[in-house]
Amino acid sequence: MESIEGRVALVTGGGRGIGQAIALALARAGAHVAVAARTLPEIEAVAAQVAALSRRTFFLALDLTDRAQVAAAPAAVARAIGPIDILVNNAGIHASGPVHALADEAWDAVLAVNLTGPMLLARACLPHMYDRRLGRVVNVASVAARVGLKNGAAYAASKHGLLGFTRSLALEGARRGVTANAICPGWTETQMMDEAIAAVVSATGRSADEARAAMLRSNPLGRASLPEEVADVAVLLAGSPGITGQAYQVDGGEFMA
Ligand SMILES: NC(=O)c1ccc[n+]([C@@H]2O[C@H](COP(=O)([O-])OP(=O)(O)OC[C@H]3O[C@@H](n4cnc5c(N)ncnc54)[C@H](OP(=O)(O)O)[C@@H]3O)[C@@H](O)[C@H]2O)c1
Repeated sequence: MESIEGRVALVTGGGRGIGQAIALALARAGAHVAVAARTLPEIEAVAAQVAALSRRTFFLALDLTDRAQVAAAPAAVARAIGPIDILVNNAGIHASGPVHALADEAWDAVLAVNLTGPMLLARACLPHMYDRRLGRVVNVASVAARVGLKNGAAYAASKHGLLGFTRSLALEGARRGVTANAICPGWTETQMMDEAIAAVVSATGRSADEARAAMLRSNPLGRASLPEEVADVAVLLAGSPGITGQAYQVDGGEFMA
């Protein structure tokens, strides 16, 4: 594993949850870290935590559904803290509901944030990464990249797509110094999980504890993952020149292949 000391990372969705944990873990490992999302107070707070670790940092207001903003992001990061060596496509959203009731807007939004956004951002970073023959792309997918999701078709489709994109990029980048890998978390203790529990509560009338227990019933560890456990794998992938095209489960053994 190479040291990532002094390398520059951009983490999307870095204002909370898994993205926050990844941003801080990369900074602890020595990287300078830019943090992007829409909610300014959150990314500003995480950037302050990165700065407290004596790394360069930058918070970037970014809506992944805005193509112009995405296209401009790598140059903005480069001006602030240096050109991006490590791109972590972490931002994601979920939409609940059966396919027969799936609204066009929900499908479009999930695909835009979870799949098109990562492609656009990777595409914008690649010329520089290829020039320098150095790039690590880490895409945060999901266990839903491996299995279907009842009442979560848009999310599962976006994450399956993200895995296919990751593997394709890995093949293209292999002789150009760029690796691409995915992380596939199971349920993880973040706002997204809280919102999923709330959706189950409102759809079924169960209590939050019952909903949580039902969501974790098939998990061998019997608990949700922690954001820091996902972040550990992101640091590994950010520092490895020899791992590419892979998908790492961080799901307590929920999916085994
Ligand atoms: N938690 C889980 O159980 C779980 C399981 C498997 C996979 N994942 C994946 O892990 C990743 C992180 O999720 P999380 O659990 O940490 O969720 P979270 O707490 O809801 O955080 C999601 C992040 O994505 C950002 N984001 C959402 N829409 C965006 C947009 N249009 N443009 C830019 N940023 C946007 C959010 O910031 P703003 O709202 O401020 O923009 C936030 O920082 C996601 O890809 C998710 O699919 C989560």
